[in-house]
Amino acid sequence: MLPLIVDTDTGSDDAVALLLAAASGRGDVRAVTTVAGNVPLATGTRNALISLVVAGRGDIPVHPGCERPMTRLLSTAQHVHGHDGMGDIGLPAPEHAPQSEHAVDVLVHHPRRHPGELTLVTLGPLTNLAVALLRDRNLLDRYRHVYCMAGAADMRGNISATAEFNVWADPEAARVVLESATPDKVTWIGWDVSRKDAVMTPADQLWLEQLDTPMAAFAHRVNRKVAAWARNVTGLDGYDLPDPVAMAVALRPELIVEQEQVHVDVSLGDETCGQLIIDRRRSAPAPNVTLVRRVDEHGFKQLLFDTCAPEGHR
Ligand code: BDR
Ligand code: CA
Repeated sequence: MLPLIVDTDTGSDDAVALLLAAASGRGDVRAVTTVAGNVPLATGTRNALISLVVAGRGDIPVHPGCERPMTRLLSTAQHVHGHDGMGDIGLPAPEHAPQSEHAVDVLVHHPRRHPGELTLVTLGPLTNLAVALLRDRNLLDRYRHVYCMAGAADMRGNISATAEFNVWADPEAARVVLESATPDKVTWIGWDVSRKDAVMTPADQLWLEQLDTPMAAFAHRVNRKVAAWARNVTGLDGYDLPDPVAMAVALRPELIVEQEQVHVDVSLGDETCGQLIIDRRRSAPAPNVTLVRRVDEHGFKQLLFDTCAPEGHR
C-alpha cells in the first residue's frame, strides 16, 4: 500500500478522492491536511472528517492548515459545490475532532521522519505546500513523489476563461511550488484531464447508484450540485471528477496514457491570473513538472466502482 498524505480543500470531488485514498486498498493514508479553497477552512475540515468516516477510516488524523491564500483574499467555489461544499444534502456533524498540529507542520515533519517514503497528493490550492516549502526548500526531495490536481493544460478554465480553480485561488503558492519542482518529483494533473477521461456520464452515475452501498450513495449525492453546474456552465453531460482522477493516478501511475515533461509557470497578470504558462520552445527553461494529458478512463472508473462496491464484490 502506498504511504500517503492528502492535502485537500474538501468539497464534493475531494470527498470521492478521499474514498479512493482511504478505502481502495491501495493507499495507506498517514494524514489528511486541509486548506481553504472550495469552502472556508473549517467547512473543508468538517467535510474531510465526514468523508473519512464514510470510508470506514475515521481514525485517520485530519490537520487544518492555512485559512487563506498567501497574498490574496479567499474566494471559494461554493457556487459549484454547494454552501457546505458537499451538495447541501444535509450531512450530519462529524464524529471526530480535527488535530491541533498545523497542516504545514505535518507536511514538513512527516517526510523528515520517513525520507523518500511518502507520496503527497494535493487536491486544493497549493497554499499549505508553498508555506511548507518556504520553511524547507528541499522539502520536495524528502517525498517519494508529489501529485497535484492543478491547472488547465489546454487553457480552458473553470473559474475564468483560461484558469483552473486550484491554481487561480492561490497563484503565488502555485508559483512557489513550480519554482522548486522537478519532473521526477512532481506530477500535475489538470482539469482538462478530468473533462476528457473522468466524466461520470448518466450511465456511470446509474452504475454507481446501483452499487447500493453507503460509499456509492455518498459519492453520488455529494456531487449533486456539481452535476447541475457542469451541465449548465461547462456543458458536460455528467460531472467530471478532477480530484479523484488525480488520486487514481497517484495510486496507480500506470493509468497515465499520455504525459510530457515540460516547463510550467503561472500567470499573475490581472486578466489571465492563474493561467498556466507552458513553455515548449527549444529555448525553454528545463522542465519542472510531469504534466499528465490523458488517463485510462476505464481503469479510473473501475477503481472508483471497485472501491464503492459491496464487500466481497471488489
Ligand atoms: C478543482 O477545484 C475544485 O473545485 C475541485 O475540488 C478541484 O480540486 C477543479 O478545478
Ligand atoms: Ca479540491
